[in-house]
Amino acid sequence: MRTTVGIIGAGPAGLLLARLLHNAGIDSVVLESRDRAYVEQRQRAGILEQGTVDVLRAAGAAERMDREGLPHDGIELRFDKRRHRVDFPALTGGRSVMVYAQTEVCKDLIAIQLAEGGPLLFEAQALAVEGAETERPGVRFRHEGREDVLECDYVVACDGSWGVGRKAVPADVSQVFERTYPFGWLGILADVAPSHDELVYARHDRGFALLSMRPPVSRRHPSGEVASLPVSSYITRAYLQVPDATDADDWSDEEIWDELDRRLETSDGWRLERGVITSKSVTPMRSYVQEPMRHGRLFLAGDAAHIVPPTGAKGLNLAVGDVVTFARALTHRLETGSTERLDAYSQTCLRRVWQAERFSYAMTTMLHRAPDATPFDDRIQLARLDRITASHAAGTDLAEGYTGFPLD
Ligand code: APR
Ligand code: PHB
Repeated sequence: MRTTVGIIGAGPAGLLLARLLHNAGIDSVVLESRDRAYVEQRQRAGILEQGTVDVLRAAGAAERMDREGLPHDGIELRFDKRRHRVDFPALTGGRSVMVYAQTEVCKDLIAIQLAEGGPLLFEAQALAVEGAETERPGVRFRHEGREDVLECDYVVACDGSWGVGRKAVPADVSQVFERTYPFGWLGILADVAPSHDELVYARHDRGFALLSMRPPVSRRHPSGEVASLPVSSYITRAYLQVPDATDADDWSDEEIWDELDRRLETSDGWRLERGVITSKSVTPMRSYVQEPMRHGRLFLAGDAAHIVPPTGAKGLNLAVGDVVTFARALTHRLETGSTERLDAYSQTCLRRVWQAERFSYAMTTMLHRAPDATPFDDRIQLARLDRITASHAAGTDLAEGYTGFPLD
């Protein structure tokens, strides 16, 4: 099997890259180790930056997002029973975000790829990247009980934090930057309308809490025409900071609601509506970057190269920036013969990656209470939050980070 670009992984990075290359007239093959159902139901974050929304629209992959997504102009910060709204357009000159789950982005991109794009092989496990330092790299993979090699001109590893791509970069030419956090997120989905029409990020002495939302399950498939639903028809997505290695089954539904009540409490009597919890899981938190993001004809994109704690909702949006950068660079190479943009791929991506790492780290350390936090640490967190409510500059820094750093 042979193609111009071999893509490992059908998450947002791999799927969007295949679409961008297709639109540029460049052929690719996507190898995905799991089956379609697994990829489409994998619960992840749900915030699209303005830049990501623009890329999906330009790629012709935004029709359902524009119909079912929820544009949001702000978030609420909560601390000391106080509420402060961060007004994105006012602080950024008009930028906002879109609430549209990663599962939905993947469903839309899979449907388009299967309808119009090149081969997307599910249950095709990439075993190794071969010849990355040659002009004919390959991906050895197993599919339908047979081993084969996908011969390419370029390989883009979009295979996430546990894939094979990053391992193909020799240890003596790569450097890893990492921080793990002594806590994780217990996330739930509940069949009850969100208790606030925007996302709520709460800092509390007992720990962080986040109130988010998802379209109702009935709206999760792109089949049929559906009118946009009001936010009151959405369901609740919520998270609690928990000690790392927490088992979700250790928390009863009532304990989860009681803890959310405590951490989200305000002095103005705001109420959290409860409902049936339909899913719960624990996500660990990590900051990770592997440099460089390229070795020969092997390029790393998305979680294959970097991980951010979910506090800033940057993961998917960073993956989008990487694959847009690669698609533009390869198009430039094919149109002009110049490899300058491909040669600058890693440096170009890392500028944006490290800004997102900085923002995600800042949001995480400002809002989560570490197990060894001291009263001094608590006061510093409250002072950082106070600063955001009082300073246009501090509010702008948060709003710019949240709505996203420019793709160029
Ligand atoms: N062969 C083929 N596919 C693989 C292999 C392999 N050896 N290893 C992993 N994969 C697939 C996974 O099954 C997954 O579908 O690669 C895909 C990687 O997708 P993601 O982990 O979603 O990574 P990415 O596309 O970079 O998107 C980043 O996803 O995990 C979230 O929080 C993260 O929001 C961020 C986004
Ligand atoms: C989500 O809705 O899953 C979500 C939203 C914002 C975040 C993280 C997760 O910062």
